[in-house]
Amino acid sequence: ASNRTFTMIKPDAFAEGNSGAILKMIEEAGFKIVAIKATQLSAELAGKFYAVHKERPFYNDLCNYMSSGPIIAAILEKDNAVADFRTLIGATNPAEAAEGTIRKLFAKSIEANAVHGSDSDENAQIEGSFFFSQLEHVK
Ligand code: CMP
Repeated sequence: ASNRTFTMIKPDAFAEGNSGAILKMIEEAGFKIVAIKATQLSAELAGKFYAVHKERPFYNDLCNYMSSGPIIAAILEKDNAVADFRTLIGATNPAEAAEGTIRKLFAKSIEANAVHGSDSDENAQIEGSFFFSQLEHVK
């Protein structure tokens, strides 16, 4: 298994000034930030990023939402990164997220759910490469 995962701090968390608190939780959980940037997606780029969901009823809203404001994109390193990061962030729907998870603390809804985390090693690689070139992350 790979030791890297990819995350975004979504527009809701960024706009509320929660990026620093979320990054602090990520570091305290043992993840190293090996690439990071603030940026804003166009709806078209959000659509490409979330193309695996294009048949889902929430796809258009998701693309509009993810392009509605600035985000932070980052690549994180830790043993068992993908699974451990999903534990740290909690369930997609914050109503179902465990106490102490990032989504329980910061998410507003299933769409504005504060953070993204890759769901597999393969997607972590694809998603990290979507945002970062080879020169933009720690080797
Ligand atoms: P994320 O982990 O970024 O991956 C897909 C996103 O779609 C998910 O988080 C949610 O923000 C969003 N989404 C919106 N509605 C739903 C839904 N009904 N089920 C799953 N994901 C949803």
